[in-house]
Amino acid sequence: MKAVLEENRFGQPQRLEIVPMSTSDIADVMRIERDSFTTTWPNDAFHTELRSNKVAHYFIGRLDGRTVAYGGIWVVLEDSHVTTIAVDPNYRGKKYGERLLCHLIDEAIELGAAWMTLEVRESNDSAKNLYRKYGFTVVNLRRAYYSDNSENALVMWAGNLRGDLYRNRLRALRASLER
Ligand SMILES: CC(C)(COP(=O)(O)OP(=O)(O)OC[C@H]1O[C@@H](n2cnc3c(N)ncnc32)[C@H](O)[C@@H]1OP(=O)(O)O)[C@@H](O)C(=O)NCCC(=O)NCCS
Repeated sequence: MKAVLEENRFGQPQRLEIVPMSTSDIADVMRIERDSFTTTWPNDAFHTELRSNKVAHYFIGRLDGRTVAYGGIWVVLEDSHVTTIAVDPNYRGKKYGERLLCHLIDEAIELGAAWMTLEVRESNDSAKNLYRKYGFTVVNLRRAYYSDNSENALVMWAGNLRGDLYRNRLRALRASLER
């Protein structure tokens, strides 16, 4: 496994820079995608999302210029959906996934969303824990949703994103991320 730099070349702690994904990022995104999922999105899926899907919003997380994470949402009026999120395996467990999810939630709220949903493999404990931390609860189970191994998907849901309760939760989580 590659060593993970905790500091940049000036000896300062590295901070994840989150910026909108562009088509020139797709090669890096696909590298992380292949290292993160057993079934990957087809090559042109990100191109289609970026070019043609008006409700799609994708972001990458960079450390000192290197893409180490990405994620996306669809937002339609008050509904939002996390379509994907992944962190380069060499950079996991350092709160980068959490920072990215926090950013996706902020963006969704900014765009008017009041609810957020997603699907997650039943066995994906890291992701389930991350989502639970951000107030997502399981609301449905889709049997044999994943075609590679017939694994069930859990549908998770969080809301009301714009209510005081959720905003306070988000504020506290963000403050703890900043520490
Ligand atoms: C899920 C994923 C994005 C988490 O990113 P990460 O940067 O490694 O996670 P973070 O360091 O930000 O951890 C944030 C929270 O996630 C949960 N979590 C992360 N890694 C975990 C692990 N190995 N075991 C249990 N919980 C874990 C915890 O709740 C953690 O909060 P805590 O540190 O206060 O306990 C990352 O594991 C990943 O890319 N997985 C492969 C792709 C994937 O499964 N995406 C989700 C599809 S639905």
